[in-house]
Amino acid sequence: MHQARLTVDSKSVIGPINRRLFGSFVEHLGRSVYDGIYEPGHNLADDEGFRTDVLDLVRELGVTTIRYPGGNFVSGFRWEDSVGPRDQRPRRLDLAWHSTESNEVGLSEFSSWLEKAGSELMLAINLGTRGMQEALDLLEYANLGSGTALSEKRIADGHPEPYNVRMWCLGNEMDGPWQLGHRSAEDYGKLAAQTARAMRSFDPSLELVLCGSSSASMPTFGEWERSVLTHAYDEVDYISCHAYYEESGDPGNFLASGVNMDRFIESVAATADHVKAVRGSDKTINISFDEWNIWYNERFEKVDKIQGVDNWPVAPRLLEDCYTVTDAVVFGSLLISLLNHADRVTSASMAQLVNVIAPIMTEPGGAAWRQTTFFPFAATAARATGTALRVQIDCESYSTSSYGEVPLIDAVATFDESSGHGAVYLVNRSQNEEIEVSIDIGGLPVGNMTARTLSSEDPNAANTIDDQNRVNLTENPTLRHAGTSVSIVLPPVSWTELALNSLVPEKVNELRRTE
Ligand code: AHR
Repeated sequence: MHQARLTVDSKSVIGPINRRLFGSFVEHLGRSVYDGIYEPGHNLADDEGFRTDVLDLVRELGVTTIRYPGGNFVSGFRWEDSVGPRDQRPRRLDLAWHSTESNEVGLSEFSSWLEKAGSELMLAINLGTRGMQEALDLLEYANLGSGTALSEKRIADGHPEPYNVRMWCLGNEMDGPWQLGHRSAEDYGKLAAQTARAMRSFDPSLELVLCGSSSASMPTFGEWERSVLTHAYDEVDYISCHAYYEESGDPGNFLASGVNMDRFIESVAATADHVKAVRGSDKTINISFDEWNIWYNERFEKVDKIQGVDNWPVAPRLLEDCYTVTDAVVFGSLLISLLNHADRVTSASMAQLVNVIAPIMTEPGGAAWRQTTFFPFAATAARATGTALRVQIDCESYSTSSYGEVPLIDAVATFDESSGHGAVYLVNRSQNEEIEVSIDIGGLPVGNMTARTLSSEDPNAANTIDDQNRVNLTENPTLRHAGTSVSIVLPPVSWTELALNSLVPEKVNELRRTE
């Protein structure tokens, strides 16, 4: 068995963990909205047609912010279609996903759903087929109290209070040739800066997200960020990153996907800081990692893509990836990567939420269940509060085709001063070896601890409609701890949460006094 030594030091602070790190994404795509969160004919639907079993799972998942309504969809979306009397809303072609959009669910319905889910709305605007005026119209409709045509229209549409949306994405993946209205960095940078300036003349406190690259492998990556930030630096707060990973015949490489995410974040932060230096600015641009997940995109491109001039289905089954244990372990390491950059990544959206590359699956008229990726997300969102702490890792490494030598263990720790709770999140990337990990948590004032692991004899095990509870987190019985020393055995291809529970409050205070 391999051995590894980890040290958690309460003084190795990465940064405060913004709760928006545990956001998600709902796009009008496939069965994400229709037959996903919304299915009026289902026996568990509420009076607005929302599935209460799905709402329960969304609350259990603990998503804080939800990006909406796209994605590629938003670049052809006319927001006016989706508000007002439902029986007058037009059906429209969705060119991004070759589908028909009924507009049955729009801003009003979705914000009502969000209230039930307990999440914050993050709105994306269409800078593909539309521009500044339509963005300003939507902003006025959504955020102005009363007294103008658009704010009064919202009131007449049945929503007296403004939606007061704080975070706005200035378009979606505008660097991608597949995007409706795809632009050069120069053109997009100017449009985004003008739109942001105009939106801020309505409300200077809006938080605006500029489109970064749609992946680190885009040919324009790096230069795109430099250029768009040069145009829009003073007008925005965030630049976005998007990244999807899939296993394509090289599991060792796939298990090291977190390295790619680490480098991606660090390159974008360095580019933003370069622009900051050139401009002599004292403002720091943070990262909104507003699309990240495992996505078997190759399968979609080759098999599932809809075609045909007369073929525009409503809510087709698209991007319904079924996630394995290996997928969930890689997914868990992506969460570790986000936490390891909590100082710069202050918002993130797991893409997506229901049915479409999602942790929650549903069957029309049937069940809703948790995919394997549900578990690392729900556990981390629930416990990773307070501050992210760097973990010193001393372990063996393995060779990968894309990232060179990669450590077998990936980890991050968190500690919340106010509750006294902490956690260490761990991944074993080895495909066949258990690793015995000794952890020195000397710096943290914690009491008892528990550990839960996601792994399986079969790394391809998954939760399916026929076997909905095959994969779950289970207590790791190898956990031992004495004083500040912990030891635990991590199975091959596994994700683990070591939960560090609070000392009794008096003890925490006593320890602080002696520091
Ligand atoms: O999440 C699926 C798609 O991935 C989104 O619509 C797009 O922004 C990205 O390419």
